[in-house]
Parts: sequence; structure tokens; C-alpha cells
Amino acid sequence: MDPGRFFASSRVLIVAGKGGVGKTVSAATIASAASRSGRSVLLVEVAGRSASAPIFGVEPQGYEQVTAVDETEQDDPPRGRIVLQSITPDQALMEWLTTHGFKGIVTRMASSGILEVVATATPGIKDLLVLGRIKAFESEGSFDLIVVDAPAAGHALGFLRSPAGVRDAARTGTIHRQAVEVLDLISDPTRCQVVLVTIPEETPVNELIETSFAIEDEMGVRLGPVVVNSVLPTLAGLDADLVSLDVSDAERNALQTAVTFRAGRAALQDEQLTRLGAELPLDQFRLPQLFSTTIGPDELAVLTKALLAEIEALPEVES
Ligand SMILES: Nc1ncnc2c1ncn2[C@@H]1O[C@H](COP(=O)(O)OP(=O)(O)OP(=O)(O)O)[C@@H](O)[C@H]1O
Ligand SMILES: [Mg+2]
Repeated sequence: MDPGRFFASSRVLIVAGKGGVGKTVSAATIASAASRSGRSVLLVEVAGRSASAPIFGVEPQGYEQVTAVDETEQDDPPRGRIVLQSITPDQALMEWLTTHGFKGIVTRMASSGILEVVATATPGIKDLLVLGRIKAFESEGSFDLIVVDAPAAGHALGFLRSPAGVRDAARTGTIHRQAVEVLDLISDPTRCQVVLVTIPEETPVNELIETSFAIEDEMGVRLGPVVVNSVLPTLAGLDADLVSLDVSDAERNALQTAVTFRAGRAALQDEQLTRLGAELPLDQFRLPQLFSTTIGPDELAVLTKALLAEIEALPEVES
């Protein structure tokens, strides 16, 4: 499929998955691939960290937007800009109150833990506020694509359940309306999809399968392709004949151990990839495991290229 077309299929992509599987790296890679396809991207972090700034090689700016990639016409196709934005529930609440005619409250209560008061009264409100802010970015339409680096899996479910919970708890009023608007966004596949990330190992794959059913069947939120991160590249020569190698016995034994270990890992990984494909009828985007201690702009470029190739390998869908 043409990557430009893929990234036009939905305005908001929520990247979710178990802790540590590579959500932040995958979200950055998706943003970067979309930018390469000429789309302007807002990459939103909700965990209150600025983990993606170093991936783009820029300084984190707290809650201020940071331009990670500038629009350029030189590239073919022209690159879209990437802006990083960190959101927390507290800041989303302040903004929401300010823009909904409660500026007075904000000034009076800014320092007195207003969020805790509101959050205790209405469970789920913190997550709803963050989603509400994302919805506001979507309606403003300043970006072609909004990529959300969501909280870790268990919390991601709560995050996506929050609007329905708040809608039912607050039967009328502004908060109710906000919940309904967010529900409209997340349950409309042309506006929002969830991209689940896993690594090719048994437990994370099991969790991904469970999470996917909860998200699609229970919440009615559309799942996009699954990202399988940290896939070991296939190594040619693993079946080479070590017996005829001109090396010492000790070296031969060491090589044999390494070969057996690597082949074993590759077999386990293939088993999980096959199982995931059999149990979950979603396209898979595989990202290679890179042998580098940190992921910076150079590694991001490698992952971006890999992702674009995976998107291009998807069949073209008729619409
Ligand atoms: N494809 C990859 N190759 C090599 N290292 C990777 C790859 N993907 C992620 N990493 C590394 O693995 C670690 C976890 O990645 P990342 O921070 O993206 O995970 P996460 O799911 O966002 O974690 P958290 O749940 O803590 O937010 C990081 O140190 C990252 O640099
Ligand atoms: Mg992360």
C-alpha cells in the first residue's frame, strides 16, 4: 500500500502495548514514516515524560511543543513536520477549565490540588481530559496525523474506557458532553485507530491478543496493524558447516554454542510470530532489533525505512 494512503486512513493513531515493548520507539517511527510520506505529525506523549525527544535528537521542552523535524521541500516526496507535545492530566484540566468558561476557578484554585478534587468526584476524568485534549488537537486540524504514545497496556485499557465511564457517571452537562465527543472520536475508525505494539515473545504476545479483544469487541475501537518490535534479523550462514572451518577446537565449540543459541532464539521468535498471525487477524509491521544501546536519529532512520517497506508490502485496499 502507498504509505501516504495508509497514513490518510485515520487522523489519530493511539500506540499502546505492554510496558517496555517499544511503544515510544514505535510511535516515533510511525511519526517519522508519516513525515517521510509528506504528512505533518503531532506526536503526543501522555505518560508525563519526554522520552521521544532524544530519539529525534532534540531537547525536551516540558509541556511546550518542540519541532523535531522541519517541513522540507528538498526531499522527494517533501517531508512533513513533526512536532512533539507532552500532555498531563493536570495541564489538560487547567486548559479545559480555561477554555470552558471556568478561568476564575483556575486562578483561584491553581495551586490547591483542584485536579485531585475533581478526580475523586469523577473517576476516569484524568484520562478523559487527556483524550479530550487530543480530540481538540484533532478538531483544530493543524496536523495531518496525531500519533499518541499511550500509557502501558493495563493502563491503556483504563485510558480508553474512561470516556464511557464518565459519560455514564455524569448524565448531563459539560463533562458528559466532553465524554460523548471523545467517544465519538475513538469509536470512529476513520478518525481513530489503536496500534498495538509487542515483541515476539510468549507473554507479551499473549497480552497483546487479550488486549486486542478488549479494545475491539468491548470498546468498539478499531485496531490498525500490530507492530512487532525488536524482531531479530534473519542471519545467513547459521547452517554453515563448522567442521570444515580452519579454527581451533575451542573456537569451533564457541561458534557452535553461539549458532545454537541464535538459531534457538530465531525459532522461538518465529513460533510467536506465526501464533500471533494465526490468533489475531491483523496485519503485522515488523521492526528489526537494532544492536545499539540507545535509539537516536540514526537508528530512527533505519526503523523508519523498515516501517515504510512494511507498509508498502501491504495489499492495496479498494475503497
Ligand atoms: N527495535 C529496537 N531495537 C533496539 N532497541 C530498542 C528497539 N525498540 C526499543 N528499543 C529500546 O528498548 C527500550 C524500551 O523502548 P521504549 O522506551 O520505546 O518502550 P516503551 O514501551 O515505550 O516503554 P515504557 O512502557 O517504559 O514507556 C528503550 O531503551 C529503547 O531504546
Ligand atoms: Mg514509552
